Amino acid sequence: MRKILVTSALPYANGHIHLGHLVEYLQTDIWVRFQKLMGNRCLYICADDTHGTAISIRAQAEGRSEEDLIAEMSEAHQRDFAGFGIEFDHFGSTNSESNREVCHEIWKALCDADMVTEQEIDQLFDVSKGVFLADRFVRGTCPVCKSPDQPGDNCDKCNATYTPAELIDPVSTLTNTTPEVRSATHLFVQIEKLHDFLDEWTQSGTLPPESANYLKNFFLNEPLRDWDISRPGPYFGFEIPDSPGNYWYVWFDAPIGYIGATQDWCSEHGESLDDWWKNPGTEIHHFIGKDIQYFHTLFWPAMLKTAGFSLPTKVHIHGFLTVDGEKMSKSRGTFIQASTYLEHLDPSYLRYYYATRLSSRVEDLDLNPEEFVSKINSDLVGKVVNLASRTAKFIQPVGLSEVYPEDDGLFETFASQGDAIAAAYEAGDYSKAMRMIMELADQANPYVENNAPWELRKDPEKAQELQDVCTVALNLFRTLVIYLAPVLPELARKAGELLGEELDSWDLAKAPLVGQPIAKFKHMMQRVDPAKIEAMIEASKEEAPEPEAATPGNWEDSADALEASPIADEISFDDFMKLDLRVVRVIEAKEVPDARKLIQLTLSLGGDETRNVFAGIKAAYNPEDLVGRLVVMVANLAPRKMKFGVSEGMIIASGPGGKDVFLLSPDEGAAPGQRVG
Ligand code: 2FM
Ligand code: ZN
Repeated sequence: MRKILVTSALPYANGHIHLGHLVEYLQTDIWVRFQKLMGNRCLYICADDTHGTAISIRAQAEGRSEEDLIAEMSEAHQRDFAGFGIEFDHFGSTNSESNREVCHEIWKALCDADMVTEQEIDQLFDVSKGVFLADRFVRGTCPVCKSPDQPGDNCDKCNATYTPAELIDPVSTLTNTTPEVRSATHLFVQIEKLHDFLDEWTQSGTLPPESANYLKNFFLNEPLRDWDISRPGPYFGFEIPDSPGNYWYVWFDAPIGYIGATQDWCSEHGESLDDWWKNPGTEIHHFIGKDIQYFHTLFWPAMLKTAGFSLPTKVHIHGFLTVDGEKMSKSRGTFIQASTYLEHLDPSYLRYYYATRLSSRVEDLDLNPEEFVSKINSDLVGKVVNLASRTAKFIQPVGLSEVYPEDDGLFETFASQGDAIAAAYEAGDYSKAMRMIMELADQANPYVENNAPWELRKDPEKAQELQDVCTVALNLFRTLVIYLAPVLPELARKAGELLGEELDSWDLAKAPLVGQPIAKFKHMMQRVDPAKIEAMIEASKEEAPEPEAATPGNWEDSADALEASPIADEISFDDFMKLDLRVVRVIEAKEVPDARKLIQLTLSLGGDETRNVFAGIKAAYNPEDLVGRLVVMVANLAPRKMKFGVSEGMIIASGPGGKDVFLLSPDEGAAPGQRVG
C-alpha cells in the first residue's frame, strides 16, 4: 500500500470558485478517489490562501476585517467544492497558528543556511492609501516598447519584464493617483545557492516534460534570481521574526500552507506530521496550474530541501479552461461560478466532461457546450446508465443468477482492461481512461440489444434466460461503474444501492457479482437539458459585476475598425521620422461661426510657441471641455489655407468621424513641446 499526500493549489480567499478553478480540483479529486479505490492510503489536503494585498483591499472595500472576509470565503469555497463532490481530508487556512509555526521553522532553516539577505529596493507607494503597491495594482507605460497602460510586472505588448518602479508614468489602480517611489528594506532568499540541486531536481522526471524543458532555460547562463520574500507593513500576513514591520510575502506562506494544513489534520487524527512530510516512504503529489509553476518548481523545492522536508514526488501541471474556444467571459456569460452551475446542472456532468478532456500534458482544455450535452447524453445516459435502466427492473424480484452465465467472454474482456484503465488514471490521462471505458460500454450495449430482455420477459418459459441476460448486463454495468467511480462517485453510490454492495474497491471488478438481490431501480442520471445550459449562461451574464475591460485579458475588441480601414502601405523608418508629432496644450478653443464641424484651437508648444489649428471635432467635443487638455499634433504639416483662416497643423484623433471622434492624450507627466515617437 502506497502512502500518498496530495494537494491542490490553495485558492485565494478573495474570490469565489468558478469553472476554471474546478478543472484542477476535479482533476485532483479524481486522482485521489482513484488512489483510495486502489487501496492506497491517500490524504487530500487543501486550504484557503488568505494573505496579501488583494484580500485587504477587498475587505476594506466591503468595510470589514480580513478575518471576517476569509471566514466567509472559506465557508463558500467549501460549500462549492462539496457541491461538486470534491472531498478533502482537510481544508484549512494559511492564516492559522500551525502555518505560522511551519513558516518560522522553514525561515529559521533558510537563515541558518545563510540564504537570506537584505536589499534596499524601490517600490511604488500609494500616498493616499498609505500602502506599498503590489505589482498588480500598478499600470503604466512599458519602459521598453513605450506601450501605455501596461501591468506592473510585464508588458502585454512586448513581453518585457520589469519592476513597477521602472514603469513610465505609473498609476495606482487603487486610487488612480501617481504613486511615489519609496525605498524599503526587503529580505531575499538566495535560491542560487541551490542552483545545482534545483537544476537536477527539475530534470528528474518529477515534472511534465514540457515544464522541465521550459525550466532548463533558467539554469543556463545566469544565476537564479534572489527571491524577494518580504513586504513592508501594512500587510495582511505573518510578521517576520527579528524583522519588525516586515511581513512574509503571500507566496512564502502559501505553499507552506500545505504543511500547516497537514499539521492540523494530524493534530485532529493523532498522527505525526513527520510521517507525512519527512518520510521517504510517503509520496507527495501537487496539482497546480501552469501559471504557478515557477513557485512550485524553484522556490518551493528550495525551501523544502533547506528545511529537511520531503520533496514533491510529482508536480502535476494543467492548462487553462476555455469555453467554446475562448477565454471565459463575463459579458458572454461563460465566466460561470461554481454555485451558479450547481443551481442549474448536475455536478456529475462536469466531472465526466472534464475527465474526457484531461490528459497528462500541460495543455488548455475547452468546454464546448454542444459537446458537453452530447457526451453526457450519449456516453453516460445512453451507454452506461441505460444498461441498468433497461434490465434491472426485470430481475428485481429474483435477483442476480446464482452462477455467472455464459456471456461470450464479455466479462472477462471487461475485467482484463482494469489494469490498463488504472494505468491511465495513475498517469493523469483521464481522457484515455474514459475512452477505454466507453469502448467497453460499446460492447455491452449490443449484448443487451441482441438478447432483448424486454422480449424474453413476455415468455414465462424464458425466465431463466431473462435472469441470465440481465445478470450479465448488470455485471457489465457494475464493472463500468467501478471504472468510472473516481469520476462519478455519485453514480457509484447509486449503483451500489441497486446492487446491494458498496463499490469501493477497484478489485471488485475482477469477479462478477452473483446470487444477489436487486433493489428497486431508481433513476441515476438525467439527460442534459440544453435549456438549462442556456439558463446558466444567462444567469452568469446577470451576475457579471464589472465591465468587461476591467478584467485584464478579456478585452474582446472587435475587428470592425481594422476591417473598415485596413493598414496602409508600408513606409520606411525615414518616412516615419519625417512626421513631427508633438505634445501640445489646448490654450484656447472656440466655435467657428458658419462652420458646422470645426472648432478653432490655439495650441501651445510651450513657451511662446503657439499654433492655430482648425479641427473637425465639433460634433464630438465642446470647446470649453478642451481648454487645458494635452493632445498630440502633427507639427510640421504644411499650413493650409481654409475659408476661415490658415490651419497650421493637425491634431491626432481616432474614430470614424461625427460624434465618434476620440482625441489622443498623452499620459500624465508629458509636457507641451515633447516630440512623440
Ligand atoms: O494562484 C493561486 O490561486 C494561489 N492562491 C495558489 C497558491 S498554491 C500554494 F502555493 F499555496
Ligand atoms: Zn513593452
